[in-house]
Amino acid sequence: MSRVPLLAGNWKMHKTVREATDLVREIAAGVEGLRDREVLVCPTATSLHPVGQALQGTPVRLGCQNMHWKEQGAFTGEISAPMAKDVGCAYAIIGHSERRGLFGETDEHCRQKVQAALDHGLVPVLCVGESLAEREAGQTQERVSTQVRAALAGITGLTGDRIVVAYEPIWAIGTGRNDSPPEANRTCHLVRTVLAEIMGEGEARKVRVLYGGSVKPENIDAFMAQEDIDGALVGGASLTAPSFLRIVHYHV
Ligand code: PGA
Repeated sequence: MSRVPLLAGNWKMHKTVREATDLVREIAAGVEGLRDREVLVCPTATSLHPVGQALQGTPVRLGCQNMHWKEQGAFTGEISAPMAKDVGCAYAIIGHSERRGLFGETDEHCRQKVQAALDHGLVPVLCVGESLAEREAGQTQERVSTQVRAALAGITGLTGDRIVVAYEPIWAIGTGRNDSPPEANRTCHLVRTVLAEIMGEGEARKVRVLYGGSVKPENIDAFMAQEDIDGALVGGASLTAPSFLRIVHYHV
């Protein structure tokens, strides 16, 4: 099964428009001629439009970090799927642990967002992952399967090429302490097993399952060498071109 690896940068709340467009130009120049993998950047909402413009004619894809499930309305501070689409987004990160932990997003919110993304032709990058307490209590597998099942319950129009799942252990995000590649692979494999229950094995085999949590130039090769890891969702190490480009140009 050949899944096209996806290397995604989540810029979180970093960079002005000028900084974001400068960075993305460097990234676009650095991926020229790279055909066997897909590269995605997810800037803040204020930079989506200018970054989308700067990316025109390049293979680098654009994604938003969050979106509301309604198309429009009285939802101060939110952006919708059609708005993200309008500025050139192809992907939408959904249910990042910072959204869940700091802004009260529930599995049900994630489910509605996944449906809205699919309805509007955006590929959701659904984030799941356990806390340190859950990890230490041996609850990783249970937690992650529950999150995947809850976010995809009753979703229509779901096929393997229209969703990406990012497994990100919360304790590994922004801490410099990454999961071990074989452990991460085991959990990514579990994600695929749960996906197979939901959409059938054939479709589940098409889903890109990413690892995220302190991915860096020094460890990307080891993650990408794992059978069930099809890419990475990268925070801190995606904020400078040399670091992100080294990740994009991983070799196994
Ligand atoms: P990190 O963040 O690479 O800085 O750990 C990953 C993420 O939050 O997606």
